[in-house]
Amino acid sequence: MQVQDTSFLKNEIMRLKKEKDVVILAHNYEIPDVQDVADFTGDSLGLSRLAATVPQKTILFCGVHFMAETASIISPEKRVLLPSLEAGCSLSDSITVEELRNWKKQHPNAISVGYVNTTAEIKSELDYCCTSSNAVNVVKAIPEDKEILFLPDMFLGSYVAKMTGRKNMHIWAGECHVHAGITPEDVTKKLQSMKDAEFVIHPECSCTTPMMYDVADGSYDDNKVSILSTEGMLNHVSKSKSKNFVVATETGILYRMKKENPEKTFIPASEKAECEYMKMITLEKVHDALINERNVISVPKKIADKARLAIDRMLEIS
Ligand code: 13P
Ligand code: SF4
Repeated sequence: MQVQDTSFLKNEIMRLKKEKDVVILAHNYEIPDVQDVADFTGDSLGLSRLAATVPQKTILFCGVHFMAETASIISPEKRVLLPSLEAGCSLSDSITVEELRNWKKQHPNAISVGYVNTTAEIKSELDYCCTSSNAVNVVKAIPEDKEILFLPDMFLGSYVAKMTGRKNMHIWAGECHVHAGITPEDVTKKLQSMKDAEFVIHPECSCTTPMMYDVADGSYDDNKVSILSTEGMLNHVSKSKSKNFVVATETGILYRMKKENPEKTFIPASEKAECEYMKMITLEKVHDALINERNVISVPKKIADKARLAIDRMLEIS
């Protein structure tokens, strides 16, 4: 296989971003080359919050559509560019605004809590937004007698219900095809191949639910198990004294894990866990977006103002 020399394109991107005063933000699942040209790499909400604090007026968001929208909602005065408009998200697509409105009609007194992996239009219908790192705290902050509509991820939802002991939570049956595809069999095989490994799981994984019960009944006492968001995982593996880790999330995260912890070993729970939407962002598309300054992601003011309320309520809690 021919290895492509990407240094010319990378240098050009570095030159152009400086010349045009553009900041490049990349999600933890982006391909290594794209992470290399980014000014900051992180999780979806962390990057959107960062977008508000950087001095640059133009943000080139290397991630998927809902992430660029969230950045635009938080910083309406900035221009947000997405290198590929096709970069969507199966989880965000798993509920439409009509479905949410109907669901709310069936439960008129319920509080709606939606994951950050949703469209701006869905966010504008929510009471609270949440992320994988703060979903438990957001739900805990809602009075116990209030019914909750939790959307759209059923695995994150059942994790939150289990952690909070909440019985009045209705959970939308949505999923991310990448995380849902990591099976308990994949996990068992990898844990058996690396007996002393710690196990880190993203709560969107379908293996999260059976794993929680396995942890509770002691089946995994030889392997420390932590259920964490992507940035939570990166922080955890750096601080941990363990040397070996099995990682259950999209495989793009392994690049940063290995780079930041060269003395440790990381293996994916499943090599197949690749998000094709994240991988649509290539160096060529980043270069093209910088040259042509197109693919501006803007959210209509009325929707953005309502969506921002759900995000702000979340930020007050976490
Ligand atoms: P994080 O916000 O934890 O980075 O996750 C985003 C995502 O798309 C998970 O699949
Ligand atoms: Fe969406 Fe899943 Fe891709 Fe994350 S990994 S962007 S949740 S499809």
